Amino acid sequence: MTGVTELAYIGIEALDLAAWENFAVELMGMQLADRKDEALRLRMDEKAYRWIITRGPADDLAFTGFECGSEADLRALVERLRNTGMEVAEGDAALASARRVGRIFVTHDPVGNRVELVTGLADADTPFVSGKLVSKFVTGDGGAGHEVLMQGAVDQQRMLDWYGLLGFKLSDTIEQELAPGMIAKVAFTHCNSRHHSVAIANMPFPKRIHHFMIEVADMSDVGFAFDRCMDAKQPFEMTLGMHPNDRMFSFYVRTPSGFNVEFGWGGLVIDVASWKAKRFDQLSVWGHRPPEVVAKLLA
Ligand SMILES: [Fe+2]
Repeated sequence: MTGVTELAYIGIEALDLAAWENFAVELMGMQLADRKDEALRLRMDEKAYRWIITRGPADDLAFTGFECGSEADLRALVERLRNTGMEVAEGDAALASARRVGRIFVTHDPVGNRVELVTGLADADTPFVSGKLVSKFVTGDGGAGHEVLMQGAVDQQRMLDWYGLLGFKLSDTIEQELAPGMIAKVAFTHCNSRHHSVAIANMPFPKRIHHFMIEVADMSDVGFAFDRCMDAKQPFEMTLGMHPNDRMFSFYVRTPSGFNVEFGWGGLVIDVASWKAKRFDQLSVWGHRPPEVVAKLLA
């Protein structure tokens, strides 16, 4: 069964594009591809863009683009989805052109998140240049990064089954009792050697997406980005720490739309063919403490 091969891009609807441009370029180290028609496109590598921020009231996830290896694979996937009764609409030439892809089909997951299935996200005409990173973003075969989606009122297994139809397989789960009777459960899934590209979380959070993870090739870039965010007084969700499953060394900072970017280094690369799903009982091995907890400890 051929499924999607990578998370290619993410779309956000945001109120404040100027704040987003500053956050993405000056704090995260992305490159502005262009700013037109009330939208920003942001680069992380040789691709034309990896993020599209469109002006609008939602301040939340607007869509996620997943790429297939070929047009034949995309058509086979769409046929398989339609055979399960799913509505999948083909995007027109204008949408394909706007997204800089060959073909595009659009559907929605059980929570209602817009999912775009595409081929051939184009390269930019110029090399990628970050004004901030000493290394580079880790993309390539592992795609743009990973996203953690909130399941809301939808059963977690239903979400996993749906993403399973796209080709996602379970990497592992983490269950941790955050407070008496309140158990956080996150299920992590992969579609390539990145430990996870999509995770589904049951925690209370007022957005469709808890965070999008972007990874850098040098640990120092995590430290430099941490300092840039501190100096800019950008609110943190969690300070530095490490997860037990993907071993990501990272911090979580709030985007201008209220959900988070996880800025990380050293994420686990898995052998997809031999991977066995595991279970963990803590979200972080160390750190990832909320800033108010850190402030009290250091007072
Ligand atoms: Fe993450």
